[in-house]
Amino acid sequence: MNKEEWTKNGYVTEPIDKHIDLKIEINRLKKEKNAVILGHYYQPDDIQEIADFTGDSLALAQKASKTDADIIIMCGVHFMGETVKILCPDKKVLIPDLNAGCSLADSCQAEDFSRFVKDHPGYTVISYVNTSAAVKAVTDVVVTSTNARQIVESFPVNERIIFGPDKNLGRYINAITGRNMLLWNGACHVHERFSAQNIIELKRQYPSAAVLVHPECKEEVVRLADKVASTAGLLKYAVSSENTVFIVATESGILYEMRKKCPEKIFIPASPDSDISKCNMCNFMRLNTLEKLYNTLKYEWPEINVDKSVSEKAVKSIYRMLDISASLGL
Ligand code: 13P
Ligand code: SF4
Repeated sequence: MNKEEWTKNGYVTEPIDKHIDLKIEINRLKKEKNAVILGHYYQPDDIQEIADFTGDSLALAQKASKTDADIIIMCGVHFMGETVKILCPDKKVLIPDLNAGCSLADSCQAEDFSRFVKDHPGYTVISYVNTSAAVKAVTDVVVTSTNARQIVESFPVNERIIFGPDKNLGRYINAITGRNMLLWNGACHVHERFSAQNIIELKRQYPSAAVLVHPECKEEVVRLADKVASTAGLLKYAVSSENTVFIVATESGILYEMRKKCPEKIFIPASPDSDISKCNMCNFMRLNTLEKLYNTLKYEWPEINVDKSVSEKAVKSIYRMLDISASLGL
C-alpha cells in the first residue's frame, strides 16, 4: 500500500486483479462491511446500476439521514459527501475520488460569502446545496433545485433574502415567485454551456419533442423549456408526460434513469454550445469509476471529514431544509 501516492492522487491507486468481477466484489464487500452506495443521477451508468440508491441532491440527503449502514459511499461530488458527513457524523463517509469537486461550489468561497453576508445585516441567507460545509455554516436554510421555490415561498413576501451561489437558479426563482432576492454571482460550468441555438436546432429536427431544462441553465435556455425542474422533477415529468420525445438540457447522466423508466420514449441530450456532436457531462462527476469505487470500499479511503465547529453550524441549515421539505411532502 502506498498511502503517499493515494494522497497525492486523491484516490486509491492500488492495482486491481484483472480476473475479478468488479460488480460481484463490490456487492460482496458492501455486505461484509454493512456499507451503502448512494449515487447521484449524474454518475456514469455502471455506478448508477450498482448503487443501492440513486437520486437528486435532495433525495440523497434524505436517504443519508435515515440509513443504518456503518459506511456510506457517496458516488457524487465532494459537497455531497460533506452533506452526508454532516448529517451522519458518527458514520464513515467515503467518496471514490477526492478530486470530484464542483465549479458551482467553487464559485462561492466561504470567506467571500461570509463577508457578503456580514455586509448585509438583516438578510436571511438561503444557499443551494451545491456549497461547501463552511458556506452552509453561514446559511440559514439550504435548498436544492427540488425544493427551492417552496422554501423561498415559506418566507414572508417582504423577507430580505440573500440567495447563493447559483445566479441562474436564483434568477429563475425570483422570476417565478416575484421575489427580489439578492443573488450571488456563481454558476455551474456544465449547465451554463447549454445554448439556445443548439436547442432551437434540435427542436427543428424533432418538432414534437418536449424540452426539459434544469434551472441552473442560462435564461435564454430556460425560456425555451416545456418543463423546468430539478433532475428528479424532470424525470417525473418524462414518466408522466404524454410526449414520447424529449430534448434534455442537464447533465447527460440523467438519461440512464430516464431510459430505464421509459424504455419506449426517446431522449436526446442537448449539447454544449462549443461542440454540438457531444452530450454535456460534468467532468467532476465522471471522475468516479467502478474501479475507484471498488478500491474505496476495499481500503475505506478517501474518507470525508468535516471540522466539528463547522459541522455543528451547517447541520442546522440542512435540517431546516429537510424539515420544511418533509412538512411540504417533498
Ligand atoms: P439536483 O440533483 O438537485 O437536480 O442538482 C443538480 C446538480 O447540479 C447536482 O450537482
Ligand atoms: Fe457542480 Fe455543475 Fe457538476 Fe453539478 S453538474 S456537480 S453543479 S459542476
